[in-house]
Amino acid sequence: MDVIERVLISKGELDRQVEELGSRISKDYEGQELVIIGVLKGGFIFLADLARKITIPVDLDFMSVSSYGDSSKSSGVVKIIKDVDINISGKHVLIVEDIIDTGLTLNHLVELLKTRGPLSVKICAALDKPSRRKVDVQVDYKGIEIPDEFVIGYGLDYAGKYRNIPEVCVLKKDIYAK
Ligand code: IMP
Ligand code: MG
Repeated sequence: MDVIERVLISKGELDRQVEELGSRISKDYEGQELVIIGVLKGGFIFLADLARKITIPVDLDFMSVSSYGDSSKSSGVVKIIKDVDINISGKHVLIVEDIIDTGLTLNHLVELLKTRGPLSVKICAALDKPSRRKVDVQVDYKGIEIPDEFVIGYGLDYAGKYRNIPEVCVLKKDIYAK
């Protein structure tokens, strides 16, 4: 696609990372009640891959959230568009996200879910942009670290599009700057 500057992470690299995370999660939660919560929309492709690398029985559900105010700047106040249907009380929770940028969204989500009496709440993210962090969030299952560039593909969008690109790609600067 002509909006791609370059491929940052290949499908093969993503597959290897997902496989490793899946086997770690399967080991760590063996014999426990685990609810995996995918964060829509960005997390859907990563979760679809990850779920199939997890070899223990898990409950899967989704949440859809959006930041209040200017959508290009994360405010940290999260509006719940769709909540989970599952009762997470007394269960272990693993939140699955596409990317951690400022960390504000996940920070808020973790605090919210903790009020519902889960045994634990942990985070798994496909990508991490540590240079942009504003709040300290503990990412227990961290995928691939990327530099401070705007990326699309593998679930990540620009203005709602390009989530379907199989690799993680850097968006052309002139498109982002428009
Ligand atoms: P934050 O960690 O609260 O700043 O927000 C993370 C969210 O911002 C992610 O779930 C993405 O939806 C979005 N985001 C952050 N960086 C990028 C990017 O490079 N491309 C596409 N979406 C991004
Ligand atoms: Mg997102």
